[in-house]
Amino acid sequence: MIKKRIIESVSKKSKRFSPSKIFRENAHIKSFEEYLKLYQESIENPDLFWAKQAEELDWFKKWDKVSSWKKTKLECKWFEGGKINISYNCLDRHLDSRGNKTALIWEPEVGKAKKYTYKELHKVVCRFSNVLKKYGVKKGDRVCFYMPMIPELTIGMLACVRLGAIHSVVFGGFSIESLKDRIIDSKAKILITSNASLRKGKSIPMKNNVDAILGDCKSLKKVVVVKRADDIDTFMKKGRDVWWHKEVDSNNIDDFCKAKEIDSEHPAFILYTSGTTGKPKGVVHSTAGYLMYTYLTFKYVFDYKEEDIFWCTADIGWITGHSYIVYGPLANGATTIMFEGVPTYPNPDRYWEIVDKYKVSVFYTAPTVVRALERFGKKWVEKHDLSSLRLLGSVGEPINPDAWMWYHQVIGKGKCPIVDTWWQTETGGILITPLPGAVDLKPGSACFPFFGVKASVLTEEGQKAKKGEGGYLVIEKPWPSMLRTVYKNPKRFKDTYFNKFPGMYFTNDGVKCDEDGYFWIMGRMDDVVNVSGHRLSTAEVEGALVSHGSVTEAAVVPMPHKIKGSALYAFVTLKKGLSGGIDLISELRNHVGFEIGPIAKPDRIQFTNELPKTRSGKIMRRILKAIAAGKEDVGNTMTLANPEVVKKLKKERLPL
Ligand code: WT7
Repeated sequence: MIKKRIIESVSKKSKRFSPSKIFRENAHIKSFEEYLKLYQESIENPDLFWAKQAEELDWFKKWDKVSSWKKTKLECKWFEGGKINISYNCLDRHLDSRGNKTALIWEPEVGKAKKYTYKELHKVVCRFSNVLKKYGVKKGDRVCFYMPMIPELTIGMLACVRLGAIHSVVFGGFSIESLKDRIIDSKAKILITSNASLRKGKSIPMKNNVDAILGDCKSLKKVVVVKRADDIDTFMKKGRDVWWHKEVDSNNIDDFCKAKEIDSEHPAFILYTSGTTGKPKGVVHSTAGYLMYTYLTFKYVFDYKEEDIFWCTADIGWITGHSYIVYGPLANGATTIMFEGVPTYPNPDRYWEIVDKYKVSVFYTAPTVVRALERFGKKWVEKHDLSSLRLLGSVGEPINPDAWMWYHQVIGKGKCPIVDTWWQTETGGILITPLPGAVDLKPGSACFPFFGVKASVLTEEGQKAKKGEGGYLVIEKPWPSMLRTVYKNPKRFKDTYFNKFPGMYFTNDGVKCDEDGYFWIMGRMDDVVNVSGHRLSTAEVEGALVSHGSVTEAAVVPMPHKIKGSALYAFVTLKKGLSGGIDLISELRNHVGFEIGPIAKPDRIQFTNELPKTRSGKIMRRILKAIAAGKEDVGNTMTLANPEVVKKLKKERLPL
């Protein structure tokens, strides 16, 4: 199965794209030889390499030991004995040298933008830290965020890490049921939310919806509400709910809050992500290692320059936003943009308008966005001056060569390198990527491992795959921002990441390395699907469908989609006596939206009396995947107990 996918993609002969002379000369890493030399140093003598890099951060106390890895206990530690603060490194240390430089630009969906200099951001983060302190938040307490893309989210996160409180940001597009599960799992003490989110010029209530689950969240002591919109009546429960602005602007709150000295290995945050089975898992990231790694990857992968205007279009509810809107850029003293809206409102040139308005120099987005905007044609791009761009980035899924070419030619005018960055929620930062001044690009390849990353391709049997042969992507040794555990579930941590190839981090992605050593990521080998760059578990969507009263069984598989990359296709059997129609389809879709969030609604639902099963009763998802994709040949059906069902399912398939 791996092999087949690999052969399909290798057969496309690829052209190489070199950085321009001027880009190369101005880059931090100017040649492939220089990259290789540093890479080798980082692998052969990792502690020396990382100690040198760590000098670039500000420490209250330096580490005693750079790294350690106890394989049997799966315990990795970085910069042990050191004391540091993420918020201090993102704010305080810049105050003297760049206090009046813009740290954060917030572009709302509609209306007036807001800018914060480093001094201003420092002050408001300090004030909010003092509010958190007033409500008893201490080192190690969990604070949950359920917010739209507004500055208070960034401010709140920085305030948490300032105190050593552990933030858990829940993507605002998830349902309140998902929010509830995450609050309960992490036992959060405080929830920070907004009275509204804005979509297409309209305010949509947020806090009022959240109220429905608060009764079940026994750990919560306070709810802090940001007033995003004035036209919504917000219910505020006395003694529990308080307004952000009233608290932060209160005369009793001080402008300064000392950044706490935090142990290197203290958890900085939890971020929930989908896996193969069961509920989402709380990925736990550390303090010093995470900060170090996001700082360094931001600097080298985006070839960061002091005058850059950096824009990552992700939502902060995902790891991409954590690492490359907030922590990586701010640790470097950069200007980072946070955008509240969507790429197509009011028109499909919204992104290019913003690039022009702020003279964005480095732009980082997802292939699904590139494909969606390509569809509207060049004319929307040509309305704007994009000459400020010097570097483009891609993340979230493999970028198909056609989209790559459009991105390169139409957006980058043929002069901007594209860094195709491979990483995961669990990796904290970018692991496989070209360094833009040093590497000749091949469209569709994430190129080479970053410093300190020992990436390998293994066969099913755990042997090193040959050049060109497909296999599983593993990282042989821990890197500084590797997840430390699954929150309160070390067994799941072990089972998911370290069982398949003992002692090595298993990514669950398929990959191959070509004759030049370039990595080509093939995508997930487990039941995780990437829908428009959002990570979803088919098991979770199946669970949501089955929790509806009319459903007996459900099997959800990915189906190729031109814009989204993958769409979700569901095969559903109903309880005896029920028949599926258009109303039930929409009810089931809404039910999934209610249980997980709108992004998880299946694009197609096909009702069937039977699912293809083995004699032992296992649903054959491999066959369903082929049927959903419209393949004539669905593979071997010999092991099926009911092979006749395949023909019927094929006939009744719903195309996109
Ligand atoms: C999965 C992780 C942190 C990145 C945002 C998504 C896929 C990510 C690439 C890429 C091919 C990619 C992988 C990975 N992926 N980047 N450049 N090329 N595939 O984080 O939600 O944790 O998803 O996204 O399949 O396992 P995530």
